[in-house]
Amino acid sequence: MRVGVSLFLLLAGVAVEVAYGGLSKYRYTVETAKDLPAKEEYDAKYWDKNAFKSLNERLDNYLVTNKAKNLILFLGDGMSIPTITAARIYLGQLDQRAGENAKLSFENFPYTGLSKTYCVDKQVADSACTSTAYLGGVKANYGTLGVRATVTRGNCSLSNDPENHVHSILMWAQEAGKGTGLVTTANITDASPAGGYSHSADRYWQSDRDVVEQNLDPKYCPDIAQQLIRNKPGLDVKVIMGGGRKKFLPTNNKPDSPLGPGERLDGVNLIEEWVQEKKGRNKTAKFVYNRKGLLAKNITSSDFIFGLFQTSDMLYHLEEEANEQPTLEEMTRVAIERLQKEPNGYYLFVEGALIDKAHHKNMAHRALDETVEFSKAIELAVKLTNEEDTLIVVTADHAHTLSMSGYPERGSDILGVTENENKIYTTLAYMNGPSANLYKDIETHDFRKDDFSSDKYVYPSLITLEDETHGGDDVAVYARGPWSHLFTGSLEQHVIPHIMAFAAKIGPGALMDLENENSNSATSLNMSFLTSLRIYLFVTIGLMIIKKL
Ligand SMILES: *[C@@H]1O[C@H](CO)[C@@H](O)[C@H](O)[C@H]1NC(C)=O
Ligand SMILES: *[C@@H]1O[C@H](CO)[C@@H](O)[C@H](O)[C@H]1NC(C)=O
Ligand SMILES: *[C@@H]1O[C@H](CO)[C@@H](O)[C@H](O)[C@H]1NC(C)=O
Ligand SMILES: *[C@@H]1O[C@H](CO)[C@@H](O)[C@H](O)[C@H]1NC(C)=O
Ligand SMILES: *[C@@H]1O[C@H](CO)[C@@H](O)[C@H](O)[C@H]1NC(C)=O
Ligand SMILES: [Zn+2]
Repeated sequence: MRVGVSLFLLLAGVAVEVAYGGLSKYRYTVETAKDLPAKEEYDAKYWDKNAFKSLNERLDNYLVTNKAKNLILFLGDGMSIPTITAARIYLGQLDQRAGENAKLSFENFPYTGLSKTYCVDKQVADSACTSTAYLGGVKANYGTLGVRATVTRGNCSLSNDPENHVHSILMWAQEAGKGTGLVTTANITDASPAGGYSHSADRYWQSDRDVVEQNLDPKYCPDIAQQLIRNKPGLDVKVIMGGGRKKFLPTNNKPDSPLGPGERLDGVNLIEEWVQEKKGRNKTAKFVYNRKGLLAKNITSSDFIFGLFQTSDMLYHLEEEANEQPTLEEMTRVAIERLQKEPNGYYLFVEGALIDKAHHKNMAHRALDETVEFSKAIELAVKLTNEEDTLIVVTADHAHTLSMSGYPERGSDILGVTENENKIYTTLAYMNGPSANLYKDIETHDFRKDDFSSDKYVYPSLITLEDETHGGDDVAVYARGPWSHLFTGSLEQHVIPHIMAFAAKIGPGALMDLENENSNSATSLNMSFLTSLRIYLFVTIGLMIIKKL
C-alpha cells in the first residue's frame, strides 16, 4: 500500500517534471521573492504615498554651495545604464526580494546627469581617452593617456613634448596642498588610474617590457609604472592601491619573495625605489601586498601607503581565492581614513575596474556582482564623510553592449531566462563577444538547461569577438555634496573634473570668479523648513482627498 502510494507520487513527479521541465527554474525567484506580488501594489494609495515620500525627499534637497574640502570620484569602469538597472535587481534578489525597486547606494544621491563619452577620434571610447577626459578635463585620442589629441597613438616623440601634456586633477589638488589617492581593482598601471599620473602615447606601455615588445626603446618611451614612481604627480600620491605588481618588479625578483616574479627587463625594483624615495624625504612609507597587511591597525599613520594586492589584475569578488585580497570597500576605508589626516583635504579616485573586465568576457553575473561591490564602497564613503564639505561623484567611463530585454515577470531571476513568443532566452545578452562562438544555433539552444548560478556563465552574444566591446551610449553621473547640483543635465565627460575643481576652488576652475561666492548659502537656498511645511500640507491634503474618493 505504502509502496504503491510512493510509486504513484514518484511517477506523478516525473510526469510533472517532464511536462514542465526546467520551466520551474526561471520562475524560481518569482515564487520565492518575499515581497512579490506585494499586496499593497494593487492599491493606488500605495503608489501615491510612495510618490509623496519621494517628492518630499526631493523638496528637502538643498543646494550645498560651500567650498568642497574633499573630492572623491568613484568610477565604475564600463558601468553602463543597463548594468546599473540589472545590478540593482541582482542586489535585491541576493536578499530574496523581487529586486526591481532595490537601490544601489549611489541611487540615493540627490543629483544625476548624463555624460557623453566619445573621444576625439572615436565614436565609442576606450578607458584611456576617457580617463584623460574625466581626470584631465581634455578629450583625447583612443588609447592615449594624459596627452592632448595632437598626440597620435604610439607616437613617443609627440607624447614626450611637454606642450602636449594634460595635467590631471591630481596635480591640481596637490598644487593646492591637498592629499591625493588612487584606488583600483585592476593593475594600478591600467588606463583608468594611469590617466591621472602619466603621459603616454599608448595605454599598454605599462612596464618597460611592454615597450620593448613593441620594438620601442623604454629610455625614450617611459613606461607607465616608472612614471607613477618617478614623476609628479605620482611621486606625491599618498595612497596607491590596486593590482599589477609584475609591472614594478624585475624578472629576477627573489624567487622566494611573497611578491612573486616581476616582468621588468631593466632590473629595477620600483617598489623598493618608492620606499627609498619616501625615506629620502624623511617620510614614513608602508608597502603592503595582502589583505592582512592593509588591515594592520596603524597603517593610516604612515605618510604614504602603497598596496599592490595581486601580480596582475585583482580577482573578481566571487572568485574563491579573493578572500586573500582586500575588497574595494576595505581599500576605500583605508584610503579615506588616511586622507582625512590631510589638513587641506584631499582628492581620491576609486575605480571598480572589474565590471568592465567581466563584461568583456560576457560574464554578466560577475559584472553585476562587481557593481554591487562598487556600490558598497560608495556607501562606506558616504558614511565616512560629510555632505557639507565632501563632493562625491559616481560615474562610468563608457558603456558596454549588455542589454536587458524580453518581458520577464516581476521578480524574475535577472540572471535567468524570459519567455516571449514561445521562445525562452536570457534576459541579459550582449551585442558581441567571445560567447557568440559557444551557441551553435542560438535559435534552438535550450537556455532552460543552462546553469545560471555559475558566476562564470557566459551570456549570449550575436557577433563573435575575442573581447566584447564597449558601448557608445551615454553613462550616468550621480553626485552628492558641495556643488553637486551642477552635475545635472547632459554633460560632456571632460567637464567633470572642471566642475569638481570648481567646487574645491582648485585647478583652472580656481581662476573662475563665482559672482555669488559667499552670499547665497545663508539666505535663499536652504529651504528645508519651508519645503517641509509645504510638503506636510501637500501630503495631508492629498491623503484627505484620496480618502474621500
Ligand atoms: C610622430 O609624429 C611626428 C609629427 O607628426 C612625425 O613627424 C613622426 O614621424 C611620428 N613618428 C612616428 C613614429 O610615427
Ligand atoms: C631628514 O632628517 C635628518 C635627521 O633628522 C636630517 O638630517 C635630514 O636633513 C632630513 N632630510 C630631509 C630631506 O629633510
Ligand atoms: C606600526 O606598528 C608596527 C608594530 O607595532 C611598527 O613596527 C610600525 O613602525 C608601526 N608603523 C607606523 C607607521 O607607526
Ligand atoms: C595586468 O598586468 C598583468 C601582468 O603584467 C598582465 O598580464 C595583464 O594583462 C594586465 N591586465 C590588463 C587588463 O592589462
Ligand atoms: C539647512 O537647514 C537645515 C535645517 O534647518 C540645517 O540642519 C542645515 O545645517 C542647513 N544647511 C545649510 C547648508 O545651511
Ligand atoms: Zn574595457
